[in-house]
Formats: sequence, structure tokens, C-alpha cells
Amino acid sequence: AAEPAASLTAGSTRYGKAVDMWSLGCIFGEMLSGKPCFPGTSTLNQLEKICEIIGKPTEEQIRAKLDEIAAQVTADYEGKELLLVGVLKGAVMVMADFARALPTHMTMDWMAVSSYGTGTRSSGVVQIRKDLDTDLHGKHVLIVEDIIDSGLTLHWLLANFASRGAASIEIFSLLRKPDAAKVEVPCKYVGFDIPSDFVVGYGLDYAERYRNLRDVAVLAPHVYA
Ligand code: IMP
Ligand code: MG
Repeated sequence: AAEPAASLTAGSTRYGKAVDMWSLGCIFGEMLSGKPCFPGTSTLNQLEKICEIIGKPTEEQIRAKLDEIAAQVTADYEGKELLLVGVLKGAVMVMADFARALPTHMTMDWMAVSSYGTGTRSSGVVQIRKDLDTDLHGKHVLIVEDIIDSGLTLHWLLANFASRGAASIEIFSLLRKPDAAKVEVPCKYVGFDIPSDFVVGYGLDYAERYRNLRDVAVLAPHVYA
């Protein structure tokens, strides 16, 4: 894959020559100095201008959806002991906002698995990097995910959890790409079905960047081509 920072500038014609030259200067300036080129403006703001901020959902749409799903989950889990299991690192933002949208008690745990490395394609090979701290026995587990792409990660995780004695296991994924599914994953709560483009923001990364964008954005293909 091309070096992301450099290739970011290559196809940003959409914003005109002035922005291209400005971005190029900023990015090479940053590469040389290791510091954002304009003190006081964040690197992220510069990157936002040259990403295509299309394809949403926006921060507002995400908030509204989280409230809606929190209401469903509250009703569905009434009287039950709910354990939210977040899949690191992508689900951090969803988990933080979703958990606070719940008016009920719950506990939280985290699992770190890797299936991607730093690329944009699923390898299908899942590795546990950090296991749960919680004994799942008798717990009603709701796995909180950022996105279901091929479905391979969750497919594997469900099989892994099945042997741990949970009272129930369900999935909430903020995003799902139905056209990219390689295996069927029973996902009870879905925020948004989206096209198969590679997306970043709201926890989702490309090579560890863009997780702190507030909206979900489509990363222009030339960035990772
Ligand atoms: P799956 O195993 O192919 O369903 O993908 C699982 C993981 O890949 C997700 O939890 C994400 O961390 C990552 N992923 C999949 N699609 C995207 C994307 O469009 N942008 C960023 N990360 C993604
Ligand atoms: Mg993830």
C-alpha cells in the first residue's frame, strides 16, 4: 500500500488546486518536522478537508440511533444482568456513547482481537490480543461492535463465547455492510446498513488514524489504493 499521508494529497482535486498545494505543503512539512504545520490548527482538520466527508452517518444521526437502540435494549433486558462486551479498539466510541444512553445498570468488559493488521481487507484469521476479565457464566452478553464487514470476526467471536456458559449472547453493531458478508452473523441490533466502501471515524481507523472524527466518513479510495 502507498504511504497514506503522501497519497492523501494525490487525488484531492475535489477541493481545488489551492487546497492541494496547501495540503501537500502541510503534509510534507509535518513529515519533515513531525509537528502540525500550523500551530493551533489540528492535523485532523487538515485531513478532514482532503477526505471525502460523504456517506455519513453524522454525529447527530449516530446519537439518535444510539438512543433508539438503547430504548430497545432496555426493554429487552428488563430484569436481566446485562454485560456489554466491546471489541477493541473500534467499538470504543460506540460503547462510550451507547452505555451512557442506557438508563439501567450494566457492566462492561473488553476484548481485543485482530483480523486486519493495518490494511483494508479482512485476513479471516482472528487472534485474541486481550481476553475478557469477566466470567460469562449466567450473564446476558451484548457484544458491541463498530462494524460488521465480512462477518468473520464476529462469527469467530460467537463460537468462542458459546463455550463460556453465557445465559444469552446477542450483537449490536453500529454499522453493517450487507454486501460484504462472507458469513451470516445473527446481529440483533444494527445501527446503519451501509455500502461496502471503506469507512473511517467514530472509532473506525485506517492505519490507526481518523478514529477521532465525529462523523463516519468514506475514505477516498486513492488514500489506500
Ligand atoms: P470483519 O471481520 O470483516 O467483519 O471486520 C471486522 C473488523 O474489521 C471491524 O471490527 C473493524 O475493526 C474492521 N473494519 C471492517 N470494515 C472496516 C471499515 O470500513 N473501516 C474501518 N475498519 C473496518
Ligand atoms: Mg472492530
